[in-house]
Amino acid sequence: MSTVAASRTDDVLRRLTLPEKADLLGGADFWHTAAVTRLGVPSVMVTDGPHGLRKQDTAGDHLGLTGSVPATCFPPAAGLASSWDVDLLTRVGEALGRECRAEGVAVLLGPGVNMKRSPLCGRNFEYFSEDPLLAGELAAGLVRGVQSQGVGTSLKHFAANNQETQRMTISADVDERTLREIYFPAFERVVRTARPWTVMCSYNRVNGVYASQDPWLLTDVLRGDWGFDGLVVSDWGAVDVREDAVAAGLDLEMPSSGGLGARRILDAVAAGTLAEADVDRAVRRVLELVERAAPGLAEPLTVDAAAHHALAREAATASAVLLRNDGILPLAPTGGTVAVVGEFARTPRYQGAGSSQVNPTRLDDALGCLRAELAGAREVTFAAGYDPESDEADEALVAEAVAHARAAEVVVLFLGLPASYESEGYDREHLDLPAAQVALLEAVAAVNRDVVVVLANGSVVAVEPWQELTRALLEGWLLGQAGGAATADLLLGRANPSGRLAETIPVRYLDNPTVGAFPGELGHVRYGEGLLIGYRWYDAHALRVAHPFGHGLSYTTFAHTGLALDVVTDGPTPVVDVRVTVTNTGGVEGTETVQVYVSDPAASVQRPEQELRGFARVRLAPGAAQEVVVRLDARAFAFWHTGFGRWTVEGGEFGVRVGASSRDVRLTATVRLTGEDVTPPLAPDSEVGEWLAHPVAGPALRDVIAGSPFEAMLDDPHNGQMMRAIPLVRLARFPGSPVPEASLADWATTANAQVSA
Ligand code: BGC
Repeated sequence: MSTVAASRTDDVLRRLTLPEKADLLGGADFWHTAAVTRLGVPSVMVTDGPHGLRKQDTAGDHLGLTGSVPATCFPPAAGLASSWDVDLLTRVGEALGRECRAEGVAVLLGPGVNMKRSPLCGRNFEYFSEDPLLAGELAAGLVRGVQSQGVGTSLKHFAANNQETQRMTISADVDERTLREIYFPAFERVVRTARPWTVMCSYNRVNGVYASQDPWLLTDVLRGDWGFDGLVVSDWGAVDVREDAVAAGLDLEMPSSGGLGARRILDAVAAGTLAEADVDRAVRRVLELVERAAPGLAEPLTVDAAAHHALAREAATASAVLLRNDGILPLAPTGGTVAVVGEFARTPRYQGAGSSQVNPTRLDDALGCLRAELAGAREVTFAAGYDPESDEADEALVAEAVAHARAAEVVVLFLGLPASYESEGYDREHLDLPAAQVALLEAVAAVNRDVVVVLANGSVVAVEPWQELTRALLEGWLLGQAGGAATADLLLGRANPSGRLAETIPVRYLDNPTVGAFPGELGHVRYGEGLLIGYRWYDAHALRVAHPFGHGLSYTTFAHTGLALDVVTDGPTPVVDVRVTVTNTGGVEGTETVQVYVSDPAASVQRPEQELRGFARVRLAPGAAQEVVVRLDARAFAFWHTGFGRWTVEGGEFGVRVGASSRDVRLTATVRLTGEDVTPPLAPDSEVGEWLAHPVAGPALRDVIAGSPFEAMLDDPHNGQMMRAIPLVRLARFPGSPVPEASLADWATTANAQVSA
């Protein structure tokens, strides 16, 4: 913030009355902050998103129930994430920022970076990944793009909002290491690297405390540890006790509570239970937000809707993932009849439901686009096949589809989740496509073996065993308003698929890490799987998956060679460069996503089998090769040490795996890093075994117990193990013990000093 703006903020703050301050800490309505006309403080508009603008003209609601102005509908996060393309996300962000500028919007309410803990979370379509690094990198790109246009973002929903069931009350019970390593890092990365103007707290409780009034979350971690300097806004209606929320670090309550929040703030200040300084701190952040937004709001931009549609098409093309292909794709430009089957080809499902629902500027459908592209070259027939909102098979529609399939050379079958299956506000009941759609596939495949399936779904669906009936399977997620054109481009080979899965597709629901612990009971959901979500779980349990995290095919092939690791910096915060050469070994231009996973095979704490720690995309002409360098910083090797209360790299050997997916590792290498010695210092209650292992104290203890019955017990092959697990201070108290309890503290001090010297 400029010094002029800062002094203006100081000045306004000095002149505001306490009631005016309390008013400023709540919304004026659904989408606007409060104004103080007397002092020239304007009201600014915040609005959803985030994959398009959802600006409601008049009466609003936050559940997507009423309409909104037309805006470009980009693919939701589930799609965008599969691009693994940070630059693309930045460009989409820039376009979103421009659309906000055109509509006088100060803050776009997104992106959401909650982890996909369960594949059944109803809002997974709005979230990026099961991996925090991927989610954080992509969301940071989007935030940078939006904010480069002078428009703010709201990173949400902080934190541990991983389900919709009881989303406004449930307590997510998560241990600290899991929060720090899995549920926080995407937020942390965006806060540190892209500096979002605002962060939105989640509805739920974390370990019993409402996120909206948790000082550890909103102040200690967010501001203290990560240096967040923006405003914290409540999710819509997330505030429980307004005065506690102010004290905890929640600045702005949205939407308007009709003056109730302000009343509670005033009463608490009067009663001395809320410090006026806490109120001032929050008011300052509201004023700073309004100042930050002012230049953008003063200069509206115009939007080139056609250019944004073209960008939406590029984004959709990059978001689809080719899961299987025996060579049937791309479809030849000329040849026999193509039977397009499935209502979703004509009536696309292109976004999810709820507060993020966008009113698109136009809408492409795959059927129309395929027909246009193949006009005069291949006949395209169409049969609806099913009613998207019904689970029951419609025999007449099936019969028509079968007839089309029988008469065609190839069938392109569009399947997917009905809109009612996934939405904000509730979770999915199962992982399956409607049974009627699977039955349709079986009926079609019985008369024509050349079946390509295109999926539309905001979160994972089970693809086994039916995928065996397909010759190719294109996972389209939800592709936004230009998804139809993008799908046609990919099917016809006008574009080469480059998407990679940002979430694992398990063989069956029962394999997933949250079975039995989702969506919780009695107001609590225990994150018992800890660090092991997504591929971390499937790897730990050596489970076969239908398609692994990071997987995605191309119409060309790539070779990875020459892996080299350069230790740029050693010591407690190491930096390592990973170098690898990628060659396009196929016949068409294509993009490879090089994925770098790190493993820590010998560690003093649980470490996942491997974790994504870096990635890079490289676009190559046939035959071309390029060296890719992925830099791994200390965090790539660190774990959150709950004893130290900080990130720690434990010295030793690490594995570095480079591949095309988490299960398609092409090259491996190891690197030895000095890191830190994490052996805990000796204390009187350290176990006998720990004392004996100590280079100084061990031999000394041996001398003390030499000749006593304890020595024999210690060396006994069976009892010895039991003896070593006894805290030395307890052993000292056993009858006949030669160990003097009174000396232990001194011994520990001396031993620890000698080792660290
Ligand atoms: C959602 C948020 C959204 C807000 C405003 C809430 O119900 O959880 O993601 O930004 O409404 O519409």
